Amino acid sequence: MAYSLDDRFIRELPADSEIALSTDDLRVFYGDKEAIHGVSLPFERYKITSLIGPSGSGKSTYLRSLNRMNDTVPGAHVEGRINYRGLNINSSEVDVYEMRKHIGMVFQRPNPFAKSIYDNITFALKRFGMRDKEQLDAIVEMSLQGAALWDEVKDKLHKSALALSGGQQQRLCIARAIAMHPDVLLLDEPASALDPISTAAVEDTLLRLKDSYTIIIVTHNMQQAARISDYTAFFYSGQCLEFDETSKIFTRPKIQATDDYVAGHFG
Ligand SMILES: Nc1ncnc2c1ncn2[C@@H]1O[C@H](COP(=O)(O)OP(=O)(O)OP(=O)(O)O)[C@@H](O)[C@H]1O
Ligand SMILES: [Mg+2]
Repeated sequence: MAYSLDDRFIRELPADSEIALSTDDLRVFYGDKEAIHGVSLPFERYKITSLIGPSGSGKSTYLRSLNRMNDTVPGAHVEGRINYRGLNINSSEVDVYEMRKHIGMVFQRPNPFAKSIYDNITFALKRFGMRDKEQLDAIVEMSLQGAALWDEVKDKLHKSALALSGGQQQRLCIARAIAMHPDVLLLDEPASALDPISTAAVEDTLLRLKDSYTIIIVTHNMQQAARISDYTAFFYSGQCLEFDETSKIFTRPKIQATDDYVAGHFG
């Protein structure tokens, strides 16, 4: 199905909204193949933005570039600006490890370390030099509370994380990400490997985290995008064809491709 790119409709955010992160003309190449063809999007602070679109449309590629995870993909390179706190973080001068403390990521499959629940959360903190046990204990509790997992695990913090259910493991991965106190949280289909009850727990967690974090989430689940996100960006063939308030994307999108996709006609 071919849709005209002239149809592109990217909503401008109100002038008084605070933008936590944005991209200008972001292009991602795998070798000489251009997979993202110049995407410019703003992400409003303390809001959830969903990235939706058919398989292969570039959602993960775009998301991964936001905290430079494409740096680790052989042959990949990223052009364009990623604006964060007045800096272009798509620049060789940026300390990527430092930047990722501010822009954290949770992947599709829960990937806890083969360590205890406690050690999963403290691992990165210790690597960054934090040694004070009381401080570490407090961050472990705060992070698990934040990820809505504390009550379920508080009596087994020193047991293996691998003994948790999939949904608990994913919330542990969210806890691990927020232990670093990031500003922006990127999530690539965080609930796609989970059952409906665990999915609901992860969604509730994200809605609660929105008070303190700016969240960008890739999802294939239209109901999930509609339930949790404030803004939705529709990706198609390496472009963002439409970006608007979620309610508009789902009830009266501006362009035909979005309408067809959210109605389930393809993808
Ligand atoms: N590591 C890679 N090397 C080469 N090409 C890649 C790589 N990763 C993705 N691509 C290509 O880039 C394009 C976008 O892929 P991407 O994984 O970003 O899509 P997606 O929207 O996340 O899809 P899905 O919904 O299936 O996860 C596809 O054509 C894909 O084949
Ligand atoms: Mg993907």
